[in-house]
Amino acid sequence: MKLVASAAIAAVTVLAATSVASSSPNPRPSRDEAALAPTRAAPSRGVEAKVNALLAKMTTQEKLQQVQLLSDGQVTDADARVGVGGVFSLVDPAKIDHLQHLAVEESRLGIPILFAYDTIHGYRTIFPVPLAAASSFDPSVARADASIGARESAVVGLKQIYSPMVDVSHEPRWGRIVEGNGEDPYVGSVMAAARVKGAQGLDYSARNKVVTSVKHFVGYGQPEGGRDYDATDMSEQRLRNLYLPPFKAAIDAGSDTVMCSFNTINGVPGCANPYTETDILKDEWGFDGFIESDYTAVAETRACPPVTPNEGSCGHGTAADGPEAAANALMAGTDSEMVSTYIRDYGAQLLSQRRITKSRLDDAVRRILRVKFRAGLFEHPYVNQAKATDPASFLTPADRTAARTAAGKSMVLLQNNDATLPFDSTKKTAVIGPLGDNQHDMLGPWWGRGEDADAVSVLDGIAAQSPGATFAQGCTLSNDEPPAYDPANDCASDDGFAEAVAAAEAADQVVLALGETREMSGEATTRSTLDLPGRQQELIDAIKATGKPFVVVLFNGRPLTLGAVAESSPAILEAWFPGVEAGNAVADVVFGKVNPGGKLPVSFPQRLGQVPIYYNHEPTGRPCDVTQKYVSRYRDLRSCDPLYSFGFGLSYTTFSVSGLSLDRASVSPSGKVRATVTVTNTGDVAGDEVVQLYLHDPVSSISQPVRRLRGFERVTLKPGESRRVTFTLDRSDFGFYDNRGDFVVEPGQIEVYAGDSSQATMKQTFTVTGR
Ligand code: BGC
Repeated sequence: MKLVASAAIAAVTVLAATSVASSSPNPRPSRDEAALAPTRAAPSRGVEAKVNALLAKMTTQEKLQQVQLLSDGQVTDADARVGVGGVFSLVDPAKIDHLQHLAVEESRLGIPILFAYDTIHGYRTIFPVPLAAASSFDPSVARADASIGARESAVVGLKQIYSPMVDVSHEPRWGRIVEGNGEDPYVGSVMAAARVKGAQGLDYSARNKVVTSVKHFVGYGQPEGGRDYDATDMSEQRLRNLYLPPFKAAIDAGSDTVMCSFNTINGVPGCANPYTETDILKDEWGFDGFIESDYTAVAETRACPPVTPNEGSCGHGTAADGPEAAANALMAGTDSEMVSTYIRDYGAQLLSQRRITKSRLDDAVRRILRVKFRAGLFEHPYVNQAKATDPASFLTPADRTAARTAAGKSMVLLQNNDATLPFDSTKKTAVIGPLGDNQHDMLGPWWGRGEDADAVSVLDGIAAQSPGATFAQGCTLSNDEPPAYDPANDCASDDGFAEAVAAAEAADQVVLALGETREMSGEATTRSTLDLPGRQQELIDAIKATGKPFVVVLFNGRPLTLGAVAESSPAILEAWFPGVEAGNAVADVVFGKVNPGGKLPVSFPQRLGQVPIYYNHEPTGRPCDVTQKYVSRYRDLRSCDPLYSFGFGLSYTTFSVSGLSLDRASVSPSGKVRATVTVTNTGDVAGDEVVQLYLHDPVSSISQPVRRLRGFERVTLKPGESRRVTFTLDRSDFGFYDNRGDFVVEPGQIEVYAGDSSQATMKQTFTVTGR
């Protein structure tokens, strides 16, 4: 077991970030402090004694059933009667209740089933996709999403959600970047904790709460070439400094389940990885919940082809056959097997051959039972059918309002030349584009039980605020899935451009709704280009030629290469996939009811060839300088930067962030430094600014990122109003993990940068006086 020098990490330090009104000399807790407090305080209710008593009664076969997790399509009544541990993707409350009655009343020990679902950004009330919520830089957005999603999931009998997904990613080609919080481990940690807290509350046995499963453990966000499921290879320091922190934050916030990942990391599959699963997660972090595998991930560790056809998946080749795959997974620390059934099927044989141990199997079962007891499943296993089938349980007016607020807070204004936005809603507005009169795509990938008909289209949202708004589609995007999908069908024809141009000419202003379909984002949706699909750029150019003011509103799940869009468009609003209230939220921002305040949680490259490009990269001995040759640069690019940097986003007002001051010039390794800045709304309308604090350690035993975000706060200010924002830094901020996996603090200078994006230039320094 490795000892971590500092227990505190990113998520903990956010608790220390305090905002101080200029009038008040005393720091008061930030409004999110309570929300981010750990949930470990939940009453134990004698859980351990109950777990042990139950385990003592279980036969080997009952234990092997308990570690099995089946999909809705697999599970039968017979599975429930023999005590299967978990079922996922089943959402019919009558079927859930039926199976639960069988498990509780007809299985020998009456252990309830844990029902799980991918409630990723909503169950029925679909919120903005997680990457959008991260753009809010406001954990209350993620918390509201998780809280409503938990309530709607729990009412149908679900008690576990496969969320939050916290894979840090520098790979915009990878479609699953949409499910996480972008490129930064600190933002990822804050959002992870907020989601866990929102879904679980203080005690997830509450009827409206569920246990979260943080995924995908670990390194899944960095697949080679951006190809989903592909290999990851990385140093210990990168694993610990970049990829593990959001998982740690989720565990610290109380997440009691974890999903191990498909990918190999340094050659070892995520679900057969003793180092990550047991050494780090369970031993070092003290995680006492359970790890379930991802979908057939245990089977995928074995060599191909499978010996018998019904043995299913295969691939990594770290196991020769099913029994070996089962043994490797269980002994590495995987407690529950999703879809494939190797541990269940071969467990008894493996025990008798001593290839797995009884104590490890007991430990896995104990962990699963522990979560079931903590979830209150033994006390209230059944579904309240009246509530589960009452439409009033879902998508309430208050839920819609929360989703609309969240979507508005998540949008990022990327360009607004000559104050093109906000538009005047009394003028005539044309909505144009393939995503303009569209409900389906607004929900984004992982739409849960959201229905297309629930979603407000851009046209409907705009028309509600600008009566008489007109529409022309211009072209269509394909919603086909591979292998039927053919990119040549995306906005392929310009037949509709003339109608679009006519609509623009007949209007005073144009909202151009462009981007990707929801099928282009999410699992198994890697793209080899980040350009707008099809001829959408030509559509922009055609609208530009009309001379009408227009905004390009983008719906997408990944950074796009927007150079041409930025050249041709006066205004660009990054709306991501905003969810059920999409059109209303777009209209709120376009007409200025909501002043956009989101910031990018991920860099947008100028060109695909720059990928990976991320703000928290390590320095080089030959830093980029476009006036030089023998430096780290692209020969064919005139700038070293992404098109839009991490942390960037505009507003309808202007802000200054000034006066960075530190309360001390030197600090002992166990001391604290307070950094204070003043943020002022220097414009004419109220708005939100995200104050950001970055650190850099210029001299260190291993090269440190040029910047690391270590604090942010989104503040709302009236015109002329100022606020002082204070961030408290401690050793968890000064230090870093080295390649032995140890957290180290080294003496020397630390640079502090503050501002409104990762490009912040205002700087102070302090000195850490020891180790
Ligand atoms: C995904 C997981 C998901 C699981 C169950 C897998 O394919 O990788 O994120 O939770 O399916 O639906």
